[in-house]
Amino acid sequence: MKFFRRFKILGTGAYLPEKVLTNADLEKIVDTSDEWIKTRTGIEKRHIAREDEATSDLIIEAAKEALRNAGLAASALGAIIIGTISPDTFFPSTGCWVQKGLDVPGIPAFDVSAACSGFLYGLEVGSLMLSSIAKPILVAGADILSKITNWEDRGTCVLLGDGAGAVIIAPTDEDRGFLSSILGADGSLGELLIQPAGGSRMPASHETVDKKLHLLYMKGNEIFKYAVRTMGDAAIQAIKLAGVDPDNISLFIPHQANTRIIEATCRRAKVPLDKTHITISWHGNMSAGTIPIAFHDAISKGLIKRDDLVLFAAFGAGFTWGASVLRF
Ligand code: ACO
Repeated sequence: MKFFRRFKILGTGAYLPEKVLTNADLEKIVDTSDEWIKTRTGIEKRHIAREDEATSDLIIEAAKEALRNAGLAASALGAIIIGTISPDTFFPSTGCWVQKGLDVPGIPAFDVSAACSGFLYGLEVGSLMLSSIAKPILVAGADILSKITNWEDRGTCVLLGDGAGAVIIAPTDEDRGFLSSILGADGSLGELLIQPAGGSRMPASHETVDKKLHLLYMKGNEIFKYAVRTMGDAAIQAIKLAGVDPDNISLFIPHQANTRIIEATCRRAKVPLDKTHITISWHGNMSAGTIPIAFHDAISKGLIKRDDLVLFAAFGAGFTWGASVLRF
């Protein structure tokens, strides 16, 4: 076993907004059924942010829990990195709003935009920054997708939810950290999953608002196929690069977009389903939020012990993807 990059996880945290929207609630909004949503996606409910709640509000709660679990004050942090595609504002970054909320002025704070792969992109950047910063770094993944959801489109609104997950990473000499980490992207497929308006390509206007072009659009079927192939192949690569066998993986934490995508990814990467942590039923797809929330959930339930090998894999808009093997 060779070590790629040493760091340790000091603490994790998660936060989901209070309001819960069940499949039964959705039956009253669009032409759908609990049965269809459960069998086609595995989702039973999702959490929805309040009107006055922004992405940084969720992250600040998750970060406070991660800091408590790490036994650290926010003042110990050396940087803040946020994976999100639903920032409070395009600028300042959500990282800067989180920094303000945690009252730690001065340290670098920024966002990474890689959609559902945002947390793994952030973890890669954070683990690389540790050698120069030499202080704990907050890496969070969070999204409030409910505010960019077309609530008239049954093909998307049943899938999405809101939430934040956070981890505190720190330098270490111990044999812990990434045994492997790979990232990738294919911008030529960007149109398949997109928020068309609001940027410099199509600035906000009355017309873009009327046409609902500030909402999330996707070709679900096509994304499904790419997701399985790409996430599966990324997991295979990460396992190979780590120099381990799929049987050595203690727990697989995939991006949670659809149970059927996760099951097909497991088959492709030859990772047993019973070693895969599936949390989608109680939160839906929260983009960058799903992996850190599932990671925190697994740690809280004692499913990950010291020295365990944890496999992560993600796939999202861009398209972007990532996979890594972490020795905990
Ligand atoms: N309730 C009832 N019926 C529905 C619903 C619904 N909510 N949505 C679609 N249907 C219908 C369709 O209209 C279609 O009916 P038809 O056969 O009469 O035309 C039928 O169900 C089958 O539709 P498909 O799209 O073929 O269903 P599929 O099995 O592919 O599931 C899904 C659709 C769940 C969207 C799946 O393709 C998927 O999960 N794709 C990946 C989506 C994803 O992960 N996107 C990322 C978004 S978040 C981000 O990255 C920021």
